[in-house]
Parts: sequence; structure tokens; C-alpha cells
Amino acid sequence: MDEPMAGPPPGCPAHGTGPGGLRRLYGPDAQDLAGLYEKLRAEHGAVAPVLLHNDVPIWMVLGHGENLHMISNPSVYTRDSRIWTPLLDGTAGPDHPLMPLITWQPICSHAEGDEHQRLRGSVMGAMSTINSRDLRRHISHWTQELVNHFCHRGTADLVSQFAEHLPMAVLCEILGMPEEYDDRMVQATRDLLKGTETAIASNEYVMSVLMRLTVRRRAEPAEDFTSHLINHPAGLTDEEVGQHLRVVLLAAYEATANLLANVLRVVLTDPGFRAQLNGGQMTVPQAVEQSLWNEPPFSNVLGYFAKQDTELGGQRIRKGDGLLLGMAAGNVDPHVRPDLKANMMGNRSHLAFGGGPHECPGQDIGRAIADVGVDALLKRLPDVQLAVDEDDLAWTASISSRHLAELPVVFAPASPQDVMERPGVSEVPRPRPDWDTSDPSLEATPVPRPTIDLPEPPAADPATGPEHRLGAWQRFVRWWRGY
Ligand code: HEM
Repeated sequence: MDEPMAGPPPGCPAHGTGPGGLRRLYGPDAQDLAGLYEKLRAEHGAVAPVLLHNDVPIWMVLGHGENLHMISNPSVYTRDSRIWTPLLDGTAGPDHPLMPLITWQPICSHAEGDEHQRLRGSVMGAMSTINSRDLRRHISHWTQELVNHFCHRGTADLVSQFAEHLPMAVLCEILGMPEEYDDRMVQATRDLLKGTETAIASNEYVMSVLMRLTVRRRAEPAEDFTSHLINHPAGLTDEEVGQHLRVVLLAAYEATANLLANVLRVVLTDPGFRAQLNGGQMTVPQAVEQSLWNEPPFSNVLGYFAKQDTELGGQRIRKGDGLLLGMAAGNVDPHVRPDLKANMMGNRSHLAFGGGPHECPGQDIGRAIADVGVDALLKRLPDVQLAVDEDDLAWTASISSRHLAELPVVFAPASPQDVMERPGVSEVPRPRPDWDTSDPSLEATPVPRPTIDLPEPPAADPATGPEHRLGAWQRFVRWWRGY
């Protein structure tokens, strides 16, 4: 058994890497986190002692089964960090860089028992009023709007001009504040998630928007998520409503933006994947699921905390120890995926959405944005292809997530298209039915152009223009579009 606080075991290959001979999940030794997880798996098995920033000890849960066991046993593990030993003994002080992710807040993500049910029940109740057909229309509408902004150029960065905008536009519609979707909202949300010097000001901006919406809807309810959250029988206060709008906005925005970029990258770069699509064996939703296995939008959740002494993956866990829910590592556990190249064929037993009482309640919305958004984008830009070598794509990684910094593409310049009218939210709350993405009624009717200000794409290189690289891809797209 490993001891997260004890000295290195004799002959430990990690000796010298940090106090106790433990490997660090930060700094120069953690540039390749996926590689680090495999070293840890080889050295310690399914659960490994590691060091967070400032060399604060924590357990990294690497096994698929061990992660599932942890998140499914709320009597043993909690998301309430107030019992975490390094917090209580001052090892992790208030200035610890990961404190914004760790500090307990009165929100559903950190609550347990009856309080968790009250808060999560309100969020789920409001979510159940979202009409899936309207949701798909919003996604299709905003995809058309975003593509209209760059389609005439023949080049785009699908991260900054598409993946980072579509979830925000759709979320603003769902929450009941479509007028708040603009570049400032996108930039502020990205900024506060990055934890930069301006993160506090950005957070204040986002919170001011959400609190204004809360007050407005308390006075004058409408048919939207926010009004249903306010009017839920659980009786949330304005402060609780505002904080849960923030939870939903942040969780939904970052994860879905990452997922969209990842799925687009796979579609644009993986020849095997394209061949399978060509052969008609893989649907877009299956492609999304494959991406959720290989590159989960959140790599780890920080964290879970042991409420009692216990054992996990052969390690002795002490009451007050912290554990990282390792989605990226658990998804490539050789016990569940002996062959990482194998197609998972739409299998949904990955850890991308967590599990147990805190399992992501918005997963079908995230999936729908990726399914409909990718499908609609490929229909608009049938010859789209990567403008750089796949190996030249830049990634940004942290403990929480790994995502593409940009995804430059080229395509034949095309004219903007009229887009469909904005739908309203269903008047009658209905449970979500299927999430079929192939709905012909999503086709366009005109509405005014939005006033968003998207970043300029890089200039097109005529030598690498799409006309030089058509062929198999064109055939694939024709198949995709059904003609
Ligand atoms: C691809 C998209 C998404 C991914 C990968 C994702 C992933 C996750 C994960 C890993 C958790 C934490 C699970 C845990 O603590 O064990 C979570 C929680 C949550 N997610 Fe998502 N999410 C996505 C989209 C969304 C969307 C679209 C919404 C809302 C519209 C949403 C709302 C929430 C909420 C409210 C929680 C907290 C639930 C609780 O603690 O009871 N998520 N999500």
C-alpha cells in the first residue's frame, strides 16, 4: 500500500520527483499528463499517490472501476472539501492556485444528501422543461449564424469562431437571455475559467448578468430555464438561483466547447474514422461518443474526499484524504479498453459525465450541441479541411481539461445563407424525448443577423486551398449529406 504522506518506498522509480518521492501533477514533469497517468498506473496500479501544486498530496484514481466505485458510494466519498486534511491542517492554504476549484460553495456540485437533492432537483426540474426540438433548432440556427460570419473568407479557426461560441449562444437562449450572447460574454466566461488576473472582474461581470436575469424573471416569469428554476417547489433564493445559473453556464460552456472542438478534429483528421463514416458504419452521435472516450472534455474532477478510513484499488485511504476523479485516465484503463484503437461503437460507459449522485444532468444537451452543430457545420462547409498538419495543432492542458487552442481550416468560400427563425421555449413542460439529430424541419427560414464580433481568421493560403485537396473527402461529405 502507498502512503500519500509517507517517504518513498525502497527503489521507487519516482524517487526525487517531489516530497515523499511522489510524482507531481503540475510543473515541468507534468507536460504530458496522459503519459504521466500511464507511469503512475505502472508504478501504483489503479490508485496512485501524487502531488498537486505546492506539493499538496492527493490520490489520483486511474482505474475505470475504481472511479465508478468512488463516485457511486456517497456514504464513503463526498464532494464537500471542508473535510480535506490539507485544508484543515493548512498545507493547502487559501492562496493555493487550485482553491477556486476546491473551495466548498453552497451549490449542487458540492452538496450531499437532502440538500443535494433539493438543489439538483431544482436544476433537473428546470432542465426537464427544455423542449428537445426547440433545442435542436437553436443549435442549428446558431450554427448557421456563426458560419455566416466566416463562410465568405474560405478560412476559419473553428475553436475561436465556432466551438467557443455555439454553446454560449445556445445556453443564453435556454437560460432566457438571448440578448446577452455576445463576444464579451464568451470572453468573460473563458477568462474566469482560465483563472487569469482578470478572472475576478470577469466573474463579476458574468454574475451581474445572471443576477439581473434572476431579478427580472422573479418579477416577470417567462417560459425559460431560469423562470422554471425560480418557480421550482424547492423554493431557491435569488442567490441560489444565480449561483446555479453560473454552475450550469460554466459546466455547460467549457465542456461543450471542448467536446465540439474535439469531435471536429477527429472528423477532420482521422482517416480511419472518415473511412468508417464513408462506409456508413458510424453516425455522428457515435463519433461524439468515441471522442468522449478518447478526449473527455473534463480530464479530472477535483475532487472527492474520504469520509472514513477505507480502501480503494489496493490503497489505504484515510478519512480526510482527497481523491481526483480521473476521467481521462479511467477512460483508457486497459481493463476496459485493452485496444485503444478499437471503435467503441457508441458505447456510453465512459466516465466523461462522471456518475453516481453527481452525474452530469446536462449530458444530453451537451451531446445534442455536438451532434447537431457538427452535422450542420459539415453541411454548410462540405469541403472543409484542416489548414495545418495535424501534428502542428496546439493544445492547452491543465489538471481539469485538455483542449485544442485552435483548429485552422480552409474551405471553398461560400455566400452567407438565410437562417431559420428563433424558436420559443415550449409552453408545456415536457420530459426530454429522443435526441435525434437528423430532423429535416430544422432547415432555414430568415432572421436578422446577430451582432457578434468574431475574431479574424488567419489569411487563406491559396497553395493549400480546398480545391487542391478534394476527392475522398468530397465523396464522404456527399454521402453525409445524402446525395
Ligand atoms: C459535453 C458536455 C458536458 C460534459 C463532458 C459534462 C461533464 C460533467 C461532469 C464530469 C460533471 C461532474 C460529475 C461529478 O461531480 O462527479 C458535471 C456536473 C454537472 N454538469 Fe455537466 N457536462 C457537460 C455539459 C453540461 C451541460 C450542457 C449542462 C447544463 C445545461 C451541465 C450541467 C451540469 C451540472 C448542473 C452539474 C452538477 C451536478 C451535480 O453535482 O449534481 N453539464 N458535468
